[in-house]
Amino acid sequence: MPSDIQKFESDALGAIAGAKDKSELEGVENKLLGRKQGEFTSLMKGISELTAEEKKAAGARLNELKNKLTEAIGQKRVGFESAAWDQIAEAEKVDLTAPSLPLKKFGHFHPNTLVQRDLENLFTSMGFAVLDGPEIESDYYNFTALNIPETHPARDLQDTFYVKNPNPNDQTPSRLVMRTHTSPMQIRAMQKYGAPLRVVIPGKCYRNEATDVRHEHTFYQFEGLVVDERINFSPLKGVLEIVARHLYGEKTEVRLRPKYYPFVEPGVNGEVTCFNCGGKGCRLCKNSGWLEIFGAGMVHPSVLLEGGIDSKKYTGFAFGFGLTRLVMLKYGIDDVRLLESGNMKFLEQF
Ligand code: DAH
Repeated sequence: MPSDIQKFESDALGAIAGAKDKSELEGVENKLLGRKQGEFTSLMKGISELTAEEKKAAGARLNELKNKLTEAIGQKRVGFESAAWDQIAEAEKVDLTAPSLPLKKFGHFHPNTLVQRDLENLFTSMGFAVLDGPEIESDYYNFTALNIPETHPARDLQDTFYVKNPNPNDQTPSRLVMRTHTSPMQIRAMQKYGAPLRVVIPGKCYRNEATDVRHEHTFYQFEGLVVDERINFSPLKGVLEIVARHLYGEKTEVRLRPKYYPFVEPGVNGEVTCFNCGGKGCRLCKNSGWLEIFGAGMVHPSVLLEGGIDSKKYTGFAFGFGLTRLVMLKYGIDDVRLLESGNMKFLEQF
């Protein structure tokens, strides 16, 4: 028996040392120490044939051996694992001194942003401040304060996305909407800064539209508001001409025609001579020679009042450009839906 043990021990240690990888080691472990059929188990069984005295000595010896083998297997396993980690570390090694690879793709601004920034620069050069406003507005700022009565069709559910108030305990009387235009910022600006005031507000607006090439539920506007003493149509037209000539060249003319907007009185519809045909008439301007790009007017006295402005002392003008429309005209985009599509083939062109 002891010589059996001796041989078993040296064979076993040899097999453990010879295992080439983790799975081979597992095989060796099973073969040696497997509970049912392992060679160690058969050795243990052999003890039963010995005398009581011999059993004791052999038992102690086998126990010692089992510990020795378990330890040897454990060490071998740790060796494999750390070798595997070394391999991973080697594969992931970063050479911080290597020269960088050439960048193949740069990000760039969205066409909306390009036109927005261009206009922001123009207006700040004229002393305007640029403001930002909430895209979720109260019904009060979006409509009521802008002199849009309850019965106005703009309040119709078909045009406006109403937002469910997530807080059932909120006692705010005003409903929430996705702002349908940037004009609510006129009121917020007046309430916050008072007069005199010169601000522009670019931003996203939303309408519950059936979408097609000319309609989109999400679009951009560019709002402007000037409040001061002795403000009349003359500076309004002057500012709009500067914008039109900046966008479409020195020869561009601006035409103002009466149009009803509840928050201005009088209100106008603003057109510029078509940059494509110079006013002769083409497909772009539908043969009219004019492109409609903004609404404007003198701020309605009740809107000034709502903004906390003394309408006896101050008057103001306001305008709202369809920024999305400007972008489409500038780049010859014929489907508005492309702008919000995230389509890389489209975006990569700018
Ligand atoms: N808010 C208007 C719209 O969405 C555009 C507009 C018209 C803005 C006249 C103005 C304005 O500031 O004076 O159709």
